[in-house]
Amino acid sequence: MDSPQKSRPLSFNIFLLYLFLSTNLLTYFVSTRLHSSSCTLNSNIDTISTIATNTITEPIISQHAQQDETQTTADLPAEFLAFTSPQKLPFGFNTNFDSDKMIPPVGHACTLFPDKLSRYMSYKVNGSCPDDELLAQKLLLKGCEPLPRRRCRPAAQKEYVEPYPLPQSSWTTPSDSSVVWTAYSCKNYSCLINRMHTQKGFDDCKDCFDLEGREKHRWAGTSISGDLDFSIDEVLAVKKPGTIRIGLDIGGGVATFAVRMRERNITIITTSMNLNGPFNNFIASRGVIPLYISISQRLPFFDNTLDIVHSMHVLSNWIPTTLLHFLFFDIYRVLRPGGLFWLDHFFCVGDQLEQVYAPLIESIGFNKVKWVVGPKLDRGPELREMYLSALLEKPLKNSW
Ligand SMILES: *[C@@H]1O[C@H](CO)[C@@H](O)[C@H](O)[C@H]1NC(C)=O
Ligand SMILES: *[C@@H]1O[C@H](CO)[C@@H](O)[C@H](O)[C@H]1NC(C)=O
Ligand SMILES: *[C@@H]1O[C@H](CO)[C@@H](O)[C@H](O)[C@H]1NC(C)=O
Repeated sequence: MDSPQKSRPLSFNIFLLYLFLSTNLLTYFVSTRLHSSSCTLNSNIDTISTIATNTITEPIISQHAQQDETQTTADLPAEFLAFTSPQKLPFGFNTNFDSDKMIPPVGHACTLFPDKLSRYMSYKVNGSCPDDELLAQKLLLKGCEPLPRRRCRPAAQKEYVEPYPLPQSSWTTPSDSSVVWTAYSCKNYSCLINRMHTQKGFDDCKDCFDLEGREKHRWAGTSISGDLDFSIDEVLAVKKPGTIRIGLDIGGGVATFAVRMRERNITIITTSMNLNGPFNNFIASRGVIPLYISISQRLPFFDNTLDIVHSMHVLSNWIPTTLLHFLFFDIYRVLRPGGLFWLDHFFCVGDQLEQVYAPLIESIGFNKVKWVVGPKLDRGPELREMYLSALLEKPLKNSW
């Protein structure tokens, strides 16, 4: 990804804070007891709507609302309350939940933005959703993550064009008709591919949609920028062949990393926001998995499970240090012992590396496999910007 740091105002940086990673993976509650009820849709809906009405006044709800944002449920959209109110389980107490209710999770910040929330949750139940991707993403980036579910059909192309088959889809620009363009300044892929040359100002990953351009060479070992660019093969060679199988790319642009890894039979999930471009659609069209979550969200993976986590040009000094510390620990958590964290082109200024970021990374508990520091010169040497590319390993023994 491009540096999100080209002399932009502070407020924009703060906005970026929430950006790159993002899906609201609404927690799927799997319960063996619920399986047996899977064909009773109508009766469930009845139960749910009755309960929703009944529970609006329950102490747990009003207590939450008042504690958190001094707001009463009266101000909140009816569909929001219908979704977030505790809902009684059809078969009563469930030991997995340790409760007889389910409380669907949504970001606690949702209710801090009642106007946006009202607009987002105003729609016709059982009908079509408004075409409001931009509003939804703003709400999410403000901290309403995961977004509440809605009971409507999302905007879609009138005539959707199905993706190219694999392996062709990996390196072919998809049809313009696979995307709803309302939220973006470009209205087709050729505009996105050409915006590098035609469009002034900054856009995240501005040249990423051009699969014939820079994307073609990333991580392929053909780089000209030297030691900071590790190649995928060089990184995989650190471990026994075949033991890196599954992983995550945080803020992975158009998922070229995942595509290259798939060519090596490695499955990578790519988190991305849709910042002025249909990144998630494009990733999916290439045939790899997009995950729409911001970097604020706890990673939706269990402890000690992934073989590799990669992140390029995203985790850097524009993220508040405390948040970055939590994030690094979350990466450590989801990596299995012996798993690799490839911190690719982390950037900061001059002394920040020794004084802030090196100690911060060292506090997590990784072993250093590679640690390469070099100057970042794209905005001029006088800014004393630095890059760090590091390959870190979660200890195989005593990682706790
Ligand atoms: C939506 O569909 C459900 C299931 O058929 C029904 O119970 C409900 O009344 C409908 N709601 C509206 C607003 O049409
Ligand atoms: C793509 O969009 C640009 C401007 O947004 C327009 O000039 C161009 O004709 C469009 N190209 C195609 C193939 O639709
Ligand atoms: C990937 O897996 C397929 C099927 O098992 C195998 O034929 C192929 O050689 C593998 N490719 C690599 C690069 O390991």
